[in-house]
Amino acid sequence: MSKSIQDKDRLSDLVIEWYGSHGREGLPWRKNITPYKIWISEIMLQQTQVKTVIPYYIRFIKTYPTFNSLILASEDQIIALWSGLGFYRRAKNIYKAKEQIKNSFKKFPDNFNDLMSLPGIGESTAGAIMSIAYNKSYPILDANVKRVLARYSNVTEESASKKNKALWEISRKETPINNVFDYTQGVMDLGSTICKPKDPLCTKCPIVSICDSAFTIVTDNSKKEKIKKDKSQVNINFTLAHTDNEYLLFKRNEKTFWEGLWLPSEQPKIHKIFKKKSCSEAHINRKHKLTHLDLNMSITLLRYNNSFDINSNSEYRWVKKIDINNVGMPAPIKKIILEI
Ligand code: ADE
Repeated sequence: MSKSIQDKDRLSDLVIEWYGSHGREGLPWRKNITPYKIWISEIMLQQTQVKTVIPYYIRFIKTYPTFNSLILASEDQIIALWSGLGFYRRAKNIYKAKEQIKNSFKKFPDNFNDLMSLPGIGESTAGAIMSIAYNKSYPILDANVKRVLARYSNVTEESASKKNKALWEISRKETPINNVFDYTQGVMDLGSTICKPKDPLCTKCPIVSICDSAFTIVTDNSKKEKIKKDKSQVNINFTLAHTDNEYLLFKRNEKTFWEGLWLPSEQPKIHKIFKKKSCSEAHINRKHKLTHLDLNMSITLLRYNNSFDINSNSEYRWVKKIDINNVGMPAPIKKIILEI
């Protein structure tokens, strides 16, 4: 598990050299870099794959190209740009963080401690911003890098916290003082293109000569299958009141998934009131997979000639079809509305 001094010195050199000729090209956050843009991209990349993030990142940066342009954005406007990307807590944390920066720091932070004080930014994300945006020597440990370093040093700890501790130690030791911009992106690229979870490409790996697990990796799919089996099923009944071009949506207050997003009514009481006035009714069923559960959605569509006010303690609004992209709502709900 422990490496010789020679090996230690070589990992970053090999990764940096490899990155120069094999690093992923065309990633939009690697062009015209600013700390703000790296922050947005790293938050988007926290739980989502690169190819999914790209169009969302481009749209976000087109709308808010600089930190100053984001200052006046509402939480809802930020969530709207996140619609379909999932894990909406990240969008809410971007809103909270920009408020904190506006009130406490005035400009986007350029030091690790201030970054760490912001919601949504942990040690690895702060390290990524410091190393990529400021070229300062800070380690990172995202999922790809964890896998590279665990294989490189054959870390086999069963306990997740012990494993994490050991990997941070290795990441700190291996992060170079110079060229950390190339190293950080290189080690991320190595994890996603060569040292893949399944069937790693050891023959193409630049660190194969110093890797403790080269050619010996047996990938195990049993854990993934177990997660799939254990997913719980949640049934939700929605009532979507609508006219020909407007949709009645409510801000979800539940402290579970989709909190703070705009959805059709989930209240059976409201359903009854709605039903009396509607001129036609239809039903659709849709399934939607979230990471930890499967949603079975049953949606009653009630059509009206005109929009109307209601007596409700919940925040609600009628949204026009043309405004749908400006409202923070989950992708499957947006899809249903666009299909009506
Ligand atoms: N995953 C997390 N951060 C990344 C980055 N900057 N480039 C590519 N993949 C990443």
